[in-house]
Amino acid sequence: MSSRRRRNVIAGNWKMNMTPSAAKELITDIYAKVKGKKGCDVVVCVPYVDIPTVAQAVKGTIIKVGAQNVHFAPKGAYTGEISAEMLKECGVQYVIVGHSERRQYFGETDETVNLRAKAALEAGLTVIVCVGELLSERESGITSEVVSRQTKLALQGVSEEQLKNVIIAYEPVWAIGTGKTATNEEADEVCGIIRSVVAAKYGKQAGKQMIIQYGGSMNAKNAAGLLSMDNIDGGLIGGASLKAEDFAVIVEAAQ
Ligand code: 13P
Repeated sequence: MSSRRRRNVIAGNWKMNMTPSAAKELITDIYAKVKGKKGCDVVVCVPYVDIPTVAQAVKGTIIKVGAQNVHFAPKGAYTGEISAEMLKECGVQYVIVGHSERRQYFGETDETVNLRAKAALEAGLTVIVCVGELLSERESGITSEVVSRQTKLALQGVSEEQLKNVIIAYEPVWAIGTGKTATNEEADEVCGIIRSVVAAKYGKQAGKQMIIQYGGSMNAKNAAGLLSMDNIDGGLIGGASLKAEDFAVIVEAAQ
């Protein structure tokens, strides 16, 4: 099956940017530029404090709201954390788990990524699971091993039914925020490896249907090339998602 049969998902990851008032301006601008573009799913993963403002602004539009993390417990003494139910009540439908910045700076492990993913899925959220190798791992020739391990462990205990609400984002760590993108072929190859890991665990059909995004310096210039590859079904976009104009060009390229 070619990627044409899967729907592209273009998701902005705003990271720790935009106060609520700035978020309102940005989402208004994004909406004005992407409205009517129904050929892909559009998601913005915003800081927690921006969620109410952005959710209100996109109500009834094609844009969906995502969060950037979620805790695995339903509630309790976890200072500083946010539960899936809290997100849902605020209008969140998507959540990123296992972003490399969480793994790198906040001690996230394959095990906690798995716990967070399962809690989000149980609550009915769509989960964007991030995987990707470090530069040193690519240079040592173990990219395939690393992303396969991350993918397998993230999906441990995830049912076939739940898998329909999983998106995997391949984000090579060396390409994030560096302006250094993987080539179309490099990105496609690793997305293909991830697809085969999913197929080995859940069957050929599930592998074919899996939505796999590329992330890492995707921008208005290189998006069309990356999105034309067979195994790439959208993008998880950092820096370029903070510029309405650039984000809209990427959404257009995914139509
Ligand atoms: P950049 O697009 O800024 O490289 O960030 C990618 C990313 O980490 C998205 O989650």
